[in-house]
Amino acid sequence: MTRLRLGVNIDHVATVRNARGEGYPDPVRAAEMALAAGADGITAHLREDRRHISDADIDALAMTTRQRGLPLNFEMAVTQEMEAIALVHRPHAACLVPERREEVTTEGGLDVVKGHNTIAPVVSRLVEAGIRVSCFIDADPAQVAASKAVGAQVIELHTGAYCEAVREGKPEASALLEKLKASARQGVELGLEVHAGHGIDYETVKPVAAIPELMELNIGHFLIGEAIFIGLGPAIQRMRALMDEARATKAA
Ligand code: PXP
Repeated sequence: MTRLRLGVNIDHVATVRNARGEGYPDPVRAAEMALAAGADGITAHLREDRRHISDADIDALAMTTRQRGLPLNFEMAVTQEMEAIALVHRPHAACLVPERREEVTTEGGLDVVKGHNTIAPVVSRLVEAGIRVSCFIDADPAQVAASKAVGAQVIELHTGAYCEAVREGKPEASALLEKLKASARQGVELGLEVHAGHGIDYETVKPVAAIPELMELNIGHFLIGEAIFIGLGPAIQRMRALMDEARATKAA
């Protein structure tokens, strides 16, 4: 089975920094540590309200990842402002996400079915600029098909509902995992590259990583939390090892 890439989302390093309005901890330093620990790329979400990552962080992250020849995955709402920022930096990848000011995190996937007419031209301009575009969607057949229809090259499946069901011991966890598997298969059949992310921890990473169609996981909040106890490098290395174990078990 192909090696699963790990993108590390460093947003919450900025959350801690912003809690005191100081210059530390620095998300760029976290990105460098993540890459040294074996992350395949860095993910950052510049939210409209700048609650964690700032414009200056994106400038610095774009420069650092470009100098190192490593991918930056820029998570962005489908707005003119974010499109303009993406087109200035031309990151390796842009992941289109829904955004509501009142939400704590990205609580559900982008509604690509409803948003087709707004999303398609943005995808086209980003792709034209050489950016690989993904749509962050729920594991829903209509959303997978709509992502293909707007011209995205990648879908990222929202694993939040599954991960929460596992953590809370809810019986629907296995049905939610089956939905993720079905959407991953559908995505590949449509010629899309399939990623997954949100809410993943050491427990949920293995069933998700075992889905053979997946090419990349994006993980943030849990890793930054775990870094408090064991350090960022070791937390990433442990996650990486669990991903590799899941793939080795599946292949055996
Ligand atoms: N992928 C996307 C598109 C996201 O919006 C997020 C959260 O910002 C993640 C992955 C990472 O989620 P978490 O921080 O819960 O690991």
